[in-house]
Amino acid sequence: MNVLITGGCGFIGFNLSMFLKQKGFNVIAMDNLVRRGVELSREILEDRGVEFVHGDIRNIEDFSNISKKIDIILNTAAEPSAIEGYKNPYFDFTNNFLSVVNVLELARKNKIKVIQWSTNKVYSGDKINGIKRKELGTRFEFDDEKYNDGIDESFSVDGNDHSIYGLTKLSADLFCQEYANAFNLNIIVNRFSCLGGEWQWGLPKQGWFSWWPIAFVYKFPLMYIGWKGKQLRDVLYIRDICELVLKQIESIDDFKGEVFNVGGGVKNTMSLIEATNYLEKKMGFKPKIKYEPNPRRADQCVYVSNIKKVCSTFNWKPKVSPEAAMDNILNWAQKNKELLDKVYK
Ligand SMILES: NC(=O)c1ccc[n+]([C@@H]2O[C@H](COP(=O)([O-])OP(=O)(O)OC[C@H]3O[C@@H](n4cnc5c(N)ncnc54)[C@H](O)[C@@H]3O)[C@@H](O)[C@H]2O)c1
Repeated sequence: MNVLITGGCGFIGFNLSMFLKQKGFNVIAMDNLVRRGVELSREILEDRGVEFVHGDIRNIEDFSNISKKIDIILNTAAEPSAIEGYKNPYFDFTNNFLSVVNVLELARKNKIKVIQWSTNKVYSGDKINGIKRKELGTRFEFDDEKYNDGIDESFSVDGNDHSIYGLTKLSADLFCQEYANAFNLNIIVNRFSCLGGEWQWGLPKQGWFSWWPIAFVYKFPLMYIGWKGKQLRDVLYIRDICELVLKQIESIDDFKGEVFNVGGGVKNTMSLIEATNYLEKKMGFKPKIKYEPNPRRADQCVYVSNIKKVCSTFNWKPKVSPEAAMDNILNWAQKNKELLDKVYK
């Protein structure tokens, strides 16, 4: 089977490329290499025999550089930061929405199956933050029994504070559903929450879960932006993501635009303070912490995915805890310090 992974050198794309190649798929990784660090991941991919195509999914012509007939597209390419879009909304619009229409058009014309990387940011900040919550020692939690298992797919996508990123991803998410229905295409839309793992070139503005251990390795200061560092996420480790996507590829003929909330779920949550505390114990020092009292625009204080639908549909569940995931990222950062120096020094 020929699999095209857009954003194939990014965090998710790189790990999926390596994983699926090992499982015997013919993998083509397409990337415009816009994210710092992914050019290093690209070299590793090519060493392992993954075909690389330098292309930009905003340009439909770039897909003609792919010579093989594609069976499925895993569309991971995006501008994934929720803050960049306020500086240049059109950049998010073209990268996260127009590009997805290009992918869908390609799928429609060539009967290609698609798995789309959507996000919890399709649910607006004002609606999520409107849920009653309680403050505990190191974290906030939902305090409404309706959300004991987290946010499920029936949660409203209306609201005013999605972020520009969230809004462009929501538009793409809805387009995927509409195309699947209108043109009888096999499409799965995964609304992922916080994802973490090795080969995520984490930055303060995006990818906090790997930024934390990287910052510890470099003794960089950390920053709590709003909620005193008690904001809470469910965390899903990259190996669990790869295993789920494999199951989805194997059964995609049964799906036509189905949406899934995907994350670590209620059993795998961590706040910023808890991440700091965990790493302090492992590394034996306290980092410098800066406090910004006001949360980032459209940020969600607590977000935990209700993963019942995805677990039961695919007979899958997350196996790796946030602590074990953090250990793995820390080991990766320490082991590959020379390589990371090229990005972080
Ligand atoms: N990382 C998370 O916690 C998280 C959470 C929810 C959803 N997501 C979604 O998952 C997907 C993958 O995220 P990631 O963490 O791997 O991000 P990433 O930035 O590590 O990877 C994205 C890759 O896409 C490439 N890219 C960007 N624009 C492109 C374009 N126009 N054409 C071709 N390539 C382009 C980048 O160079 C990069 O290699 C994104 O769609 C993101 O919105 C991520």
